[in-house]
Amino acid sequence: MLTIDVAELSPAQLQNYMQYAIAPRPICFATTIDKDGNINLSPFSFFNMFSTNPPLCIFSPARRVRDNTTKHTLENVLEVKECVINIVNYPMVQQMSLASTEYAKGINEFEKSGFTMLPSQLVKPPRVAEAPVQMECIIREVIHLGENPGAGNLILAEVKLIHIKEEILDTDGKIDQAKIDLVARLGGDWYCRVTPENLFKVAKPLTTLGIGVDALPSAVRNSHVLSGNDLGMLGNVEHLPSADEIDAIRNTSLVKEVMDATIGDATNRERELHELAKQWLSEGKVNEALKVVLL
Ligand SMILES: Cc1cc2nc3c(=O)[nH]c(=O)nc-3n(C[C@H](O)[C@H](O)[C@H](O)COP(=O)(O)O)c2cc1C
Repeated sequence: MLTIDVAELSPAQLQNYMQYAIAPRPICFATTIDKDGNINLSPFSFFNMFSTNPPLCIFSPARRVRDNTTKHTLENVLEVKECVINIVNYPMVQQMSLASTEYAKGINEFEKSGFTMLPSQLVKPPRVAEAPVQMECIIREVIHLGENPGAGNLILAEVKLIHIKEEILDTDGKIDQAKIDLVARLGGDWYCRVTPENLFKVAKPLTTLGIGVDALPSAVRNSHVLSGNDLGMLGNVEHLPSADEIDAIRNTSLVKEVMDATIGDATNRERELHELAKQWLSEGKVNEALKVVLL
């Protein structure tokens, strides 16, 4: 494993490692305005939500590594404490990238990138009409993290109004993760797109306490067949099955087949049972899979 003391890296090298590893990052497409009314539109992937009560997002226009200058977005929010955070989806990605061009102060990137300005209801900076979600925000605080090239400036933006395009909602009125078509930033020029084929669910242990991987027998934990994801699912089960429940699984046809085919061959039996468990895990039959590996 490569181990690097960050003090030995230039800001550009460090930025490179961190941006490739801390990815994908959501994109805040921020509209701001200066005290003279000049509108600015720029993307920031040092961005996330950090609180829902109050609803607070943070994004960070960093000091340029190249020449240690600050970004217009930062200068604007220090003058006018408002912004709109526009969410970027795939149909917007090329124009969004164009808007990140270092145009001179006073140049409106809406015009340069061809996006449509939509008046906000609460704040002065306009919304990006094309964005699937637009959040009108008041700036609560700006935290400067340093004076050197690459130093971030955390803009704490409190969301006051959210506008959501109805076409991305499901029948319950919630955002449909498959419809919003989000993009995210990775290292260098890489982006990723959230497509329906790429989406998957992980059952979250909300109220239940999973037994934990440490509660599984060592033959299961050290299985050559079961992966870390498989063990994570097995460890998320609330109770170990009873002896009777484990015994009952013997009578199911697939388990019976394995048992009959591996009489006197303990190694292959274990491998085949683990393969069956793996198959069932992939089908969401977690409790059955746990019984099989405990046989
Ligand atoms: C997808 C994307 C994400 C970006 N994320 C950041 C970021 O988090 N912080 C930053 O300082 N610059 C980031 N940039 C670069 C800024 O968008 C760029 O410097 C922009 O010109 C700043 O504009 P301004 O000076 O008008 O505020 C990003 C660029 C792109 C295309």
